[in-house]
Order: sequence, then C-alpha cells, then structure tokens
Amino acid sequence: LFQTISVHAETGVLPVCAVKIGLNHSFYSPLHFGTFPTVNTNSPSCFPSYLCLVAEFSGRDNACEKTSYMFLRKELPVRLANTMREVNLLPDKLLSQPSVKLVQKWYMQSFLELLEFENRKPEEPHTLIEIRNRHNDVVPTMAQGVIEYKEKFSFDPFVSSNIQYFLDRFYTNRISFRMLINQHTLLFGNDINPAHPKHIGSIDPNCNVAEVVTDAYETAKMVCEQYYSAAPELKIEEFNAKAPQIPIQAVYVPSHLFHMLFELFKNAMRATNELHEGSKEGLPLIKAKVTLGKEDLSVKISDRGGGVALRKIDRLFNYTYSTAPTPSLDSKRVPLAGFGHGLPISRLYARYFQGDLKLYSMEGVGTDAVIYLKALSSESFERLPVFNKSAWRHYQGGPGADDWSNPSKEPRDTSKYKAKR
Ligand SMILES: Nc1ncnc2c1ncn2[C@@H]1O[C@H](COP(=O)(O)OP(=O)(O)O)[C@@H](O)[C@H]1O
Ligand SMILES: [Mg+2]
Repeated sequence: LFQTISVHAETGVLPVCAVKIGLNHSFYSPLHFGTFPTVNTNSPSCFPSYLCLVAEFSGRDNACEKTSYMFLRKELPVRLANTMREVNLLPDKLLSQPSVKLVQKWYMQSFLELLEFENRKPEEPHTLIEIRNRHNDVVPTMAQGVIEYKEKFSFDPFVSSNIQYFLDRFYTNRISFRMLINQHTLLFGNDINPAHPKHIGSIDPNCNVAEVVTDAYETAKMVCEQYYSAAPELKIEEFNAKAPQIPIQAVYVPSHLFHMLFELFKNAMRATNELHEGSKEGLPLIKAKVTLGKEDLSVKISDRGGGVALRKIDRLFNYTYSTAPTPSLDSKRVPLAGFGHGLPISRLYARYFQGDLKLYSMEGVGTDAVIYLKALSSESFERLPVFNKSAWRHYQGGPGADDWSNPSKEPRDTSKYKAKR
C-alpha cells in the first residue's frame, strides 16, 4: 500500500491515488496569526489550509473544526506514508529487530485507520487521540531497536550516518504528526485547560521565555538533586533589543521550549557536578541569557562544567552517544542522562520551526548551548522531511572516501613516540 501511494522516487510524479489523498505536504505556519500558508502546487487544488484554524482566530470559538478535519484527513496519512517509505530503506538487519518491527506495525495500523476517515463526516467521532497514544513510545522503542542492532552487528561509518540521517527525519515527522493531532484535539475537544485558557491549542501566543527557562531549570534541579547532593544555582538575564526593559515573549509551543531547556539544564548540571562536586568553592552558577533581535530570539545556557573538546562536539548529537551509563528502564527515578537522545532531539524541536540548537564549548572551562528561534511567528514554518529522490540517494551507495587529508582521527599519544626514541 505504501508503495502505491508514495511519491514516485524516480520521476517525482504522483500516482493518481496519491493525488487523491494529497501526498505532498501542505506547509503551514501554526505560529503565525495573520497569513495563509504556501500550498504546494502538486497538492490538490482547494487544499484547505490548516493555518486558518489559528490564523486570524484568537480562540477555539472562532476556529473551524470542519476545515481542520478536512486538512487532517489528507495530511496525516501523507506524513505517515512518507516516513514509512523511509523506514523501508533501512538496512535489512535493522528492520528485522523486534523493536523496529513493532514500530512499523504501529505505523501501518494508524495509517489504515486514518484512511478510513477519508469518507467520514467531520461530526463523526474520530480516534485521533488513540492514534497519537499508540505512538507514545516510538522514541524509546526505536532507540532500543538501534541498540539491539549495534550490539549484534556494530556500526560502520556508513550505517551510522544513515541511521543518524533517518532518525532526524523520522523523529521530526513524529513531532509534526503529534503537533497536528494536538492542535485539533485541543482546539475542538471538550476539555479546556484551565491553567492555560489563553493558549490556542498547544500554542501560547504570549509565551514568556524567561518563565519557561525558570520552569525547566526547577524541574531539572529536582532531577539533579536525586543524583548529586546539590544542583548549581541559576542566574537569568534578558536583553530585549527591540523593546528594552520589556519581558521577551514569543508565539511558540511552550512544551517544545521546555523540552529543549530541560535537556540543556540536565546536561549543564551533570557536567558542573562531575567537575566540581565536593569542591570548597561550591558549584559555579549556570547562566541563562534570553535575547531578542530583529530576526532571532535566542536563549543561551552557559555552564562551567569543563567543556568538551572541539573534535568531539559533533558526535554529541549522535543518537547513541552518551558518556553516562545507560539508565535502567525499570528504575523509578527520572534519568538525568544516559540515553544520548537529549541533544539531537532538542535540536529537532528547534529546527522544526526554522530555529536551531548549537553548542560552543571551551575545553577545560565550560559550554554555551544556544537555542535559536525565529523572532517573527510569520517565519516559523514547519520544517519537514520530504521523501524524494535526494532522500532516497542518501540510503544508497557506499561510504565515499574522505576528500580532505585526515592522517589521524584520535590525538597522537606522544608518550609512545618519546619512549621509542
Ligand atoms: N554542557 C555540557 N558539558 C559537557 N558535556 C556535555 C554537555 N552537554 C552534553 N554533553 C555531553 O554530550 C553527551 C550527550 O548529551 P545528550 O544528548 O544530552 O545525552 P545524555 O545526556 O543522555 O548523555 C553527554 O553524555 C555529555 O558527554
Ligand atoms: Mg542529556
């Protein structure tokens, strides 16, 4: 089924049935409340824009449930189909791991259920929440599959970079899938969240960034204190270049921002404790700086946890890289570190709305982690993986030779050379 409805990789031509269910994504900017999205010209005409749910409407009363429903019943199967096509390009040995098979089964089941909605009326009850919940454990289950594969067969650099490429796209697709379902169910479901009556679905039109920084810090501090005897203090600074002295606000999904900051704080706290635990001077502060310019809204988290060598910075974003022992899944404690997913998934959240996450470290001193978001909601379009010929090529062929000289990947052990002389 996926074969039939997916974009034809060679020609880019959509099979008729793919057109019928709208295989190409429509792009929308759910964070922007003013304009309509650019609809991909390959999509069916009159493709309803999901954005109109939040654009110009400032609340659930005005939003149009039917339009949202019509959008979702086309767009959700499209997103599932795209990602399933890529799953099928993974190495056979990885696909045969039980955890990966389980994830595939969930996707197939959800896809078939979504296709049933094509002919249903918006008023009929839907099972979107069930579908979303079925996918709750996709990240740990997929991670388990990758670990199973790595333990049995070990990674060569080609497989490793393919899996990294795949997981970035697969998890981004999942973030977007959940975002669409959450928006619909929160806007049109029966439960209004009394704690956040002004939110539009999961979006806060006036998200106070420093408040989210504080929340994430406090939560990370609680986790940190279960592992170490203390947690570093926090100092927050704000610099609003557009309107000095005014607290910085963004149109954003607070849960996404919280997720990124929570991961960065856990990392900063762990590094600080590992280097300074028990020192007479106590733990050095973690500093957070929130800034707003014309284009970027940035949040920098700076620690004095000893930093990381430049040579290693890129690998910190690998899904299987962690310097902490792997935590037990049965443990009742929330893990502080060890799965290696904190940084790569946080970067996906930042990139999903056209931002980014970067680490700048000075070995021996500490690390600055910076989250970049778009200052203007009109620029916060979804960044989605597209399954096309270029994506397909990534999974084919073999590893290319290095096109820069690279005599040694690890630093030379000079003591060995001295001993020989
Ligand atoms: N602020 C930091 N200072 C020093 N090392 C860091 C910092 N942030 C991340 N790292 C390193 O990057 C690795 C990967 O981080 P992450 O993706 O969050 O996974 P995890 O925390 O589960 O190990 C950590 O194990 C750690 O070695
Ligand atoms: Mg971490």
